[in-house]
Amino acid sequence: MTEPTVLEASNLVVRYPGHPPVTAVDDVSLDIRAGETVALVGESGSGKSSVARAVAGIEKSAAGSVRFDGEPVRALGVRRRPLALTGIQMVFQDPATSLNPRRRIGDQIADGVRTARARGAEGSRPEEWLERVGMDPAWTARFPHQFSGGQKQRIAIARALAARPRLLVADEPISALDASTQTSVAGLMRDLIAEVGAGMLFISHDLAVVHRIADRTVVMYGGRVMEQGATDQVWDAPRHPYTRSLLAAIPVPDGAGRIPAAPTAEDRAEWADTPPIG
Ligand SMILES: Nc1ncnc2c1ncn2[C@@H]1O[C@H](COP(=O)(O)OP(=O)(O)OP(=O)(O)O)[C@@H](O)[C@H]1O
Ligand SMILES: [Mg+2]
Repeated sequence: MTEPTVLEASNLVVRYPGHPPVTAVDDVSLDIRAGETVALVGESGSGKSSVARAVAGIEKSAAGSVRFDGEPVRALGVRRRPLALTGIQMVFQDPATSLNPRRRIGDQIADGVRTARARGAEGSRPEEWLERVGMDPAWTARFPHQFSGGQKQRIAIARALAARPRLLVADEPISALDASTQTSVAGLMRDLIAEVGAGMLFISHDLAVVHRIADRTVVMYGGRVMEQGATDQVWDAPRHPYTRSLLAAIPVPDGAGRIPAAPTAEDRAEWADTPPIG
């Protein structure tokens, strides 16, 4: 069965003022269906966070359009009302900055539940959400500082999903976690968004994790999409030279790690000149 499309971004352009101005996102299009995890990968500065902010409506795009549940995202009035009420939730790299240090975690998750109800969606209790993210439901009265980084990120995920979003935009949600918890938190996010029927845009530098959890992968370089497709297809048969170079940098499982040669100016010219794939 084909799930409905939650997010449809078409020909997005994001520019930052300056001398000269920076075109951080140049003609990017991507779709996300309900229950689907779409990964956005590419080197630092390739425009991933700018795409994330533009699709969430918190960054103005210079051109292009974003449709969310079939409606133009501008019409959602993100600037006039809280983002959460639109059905979009975001999770960032550092859970310490998204959680309020002075409030009990149960109360913060309850904010998410209230948002769900305000949108007419079903709201489960904070205790149930703690359990769903693999934590003890008896911990609702605790404060953020009583938890590890990985636990804080689980709490932030619980709060985001308690709001029953249609779209979860996660910008490097596992980058600040230690290696042993990265995979489990990413897998948990993938499972839970599918359970609540949300789509997820998942940004990560950890390509091994992306390979495991993403249904589809979008590869960016220099503000443009170089290749996009089903994750297995992109991994097993990368067609764009930039994708091949990016994937060559993944350490091999024996831990030895392949050390890729630094890209040359010729490599970069070839990447920029090869038409996008997918
Ligand atoms: N607020 C801003 N003002 C000016 N330039 C910006 C701003 N935010 C990002 N940029 C520029 O836009 C480009 C894309 O940045 P962006 O943060 O979207 O990249 P990214 O792929 O998320 O990188 P990273 O992997 O390091 O997080 C970069 O050249 C960056 O310097
Ligand atoms: Mg970024």
